Amino acid sequence: MATNEGMLAIKHYVAQMLADDPTGHDYEHMKRVAAVASQLAEKEGADELIAEMAGWLHDVADSKLTDDPQAATRELIRFLTDIGVPKLTIEQIIQAIEDVSFSKGNVPTTLEGKIVQDADRLDAIGAVGIARTFAFGGAHGQLIHTDTKDGRATSIQHVYNKLVKVASLMNTAAAKREANKRHHVLIDFLEHFHEEWEGRID
Ligand code: ADP
Ligand code: NI
Repeated sequence: MATNEGMLAIKHYVAQMLADDPTGHDYEHMKRVAAVASQLAEKEGADELIAEMAGWLHDVADSKLTDDPQAATRELIRFLTDIGVPKLTIEQIIQAIEDVSFSKGNVPTTLEGKIVQDADRLDAIGAVGIARTFAFGGAHGQLIHTDTKDGRATSIQHVYNKLVKVASLMNTAAAKREANKRHHVLIDFLEHFHEEWEGRID
C-alpha cells in the first residue's frame, strides 16, 4: 500500500460513513483529530502514520455511532486489509482507537492511543469545542442555558460538568500545552456568556 493512496481510501471510508452527522462526530472532526494526532505524534516521538490513521478512524466503531461496535471493528479490519494495510499496522491502529472515548475514561496502553485520546479531547475544548457543544445540544433538542433550576440539561451545564475538566486529563506534554490555551478560551467564553445572558453592556 502506498501511504498516500491508503490515506485517501481511509478518508473516503470516513466520508461515506460520517459526512452528515450533526452531533459533533462529522468528517471534519475526524480530519481535525487526525491532523492534531499527527502533530502530537511528531512532538512526542510516536508513530505519526499510526496516529494519523487512528485519528481518522477513532469514532468509526464508537457505540454512539453504531449499534454494533464489534461488527464495525470487524468491518474496519476487513477494509484496512482490502486496501493493503499490513497486519501489524492494522493491529496498532485498532489498539490505538479502542478505549479512546472520554466517556469510557480509560488510559490507553500505547503512546499512539494516548495521542489520539488527547487529540479527541482537544477537539472538545477551545472555540471548536464550544461550537460542537451547541451543535450537539441543538441536534438533541437541548436548551442553551436556563436560569430556572428545573433539572433540565443544558449545553452550558455540559461545559461546566465536563469540558472545564478536560484540560487536566491530557496524557502528553505537547497536548497539555495546547489544552491550557484552549481551556482559557472556554473560561473567557463562560464569563462573556453570563455577562451577555444577563443583558449587561459596558
Ligand atoms: P467524542 O466521541 O468525539 O469524544 P462525544 O461523543 O463525547 O465526543 O461528544 C461529541 C461532542 O458533543 C463533544 O464536543 C461534546 O462536548 C459534545 N457533547 C457531548 N455530550 C453533550 C451534552 N450532553 N451536551 C452538549 N454537548 C455535548
Ligand atoms: Ni471523537
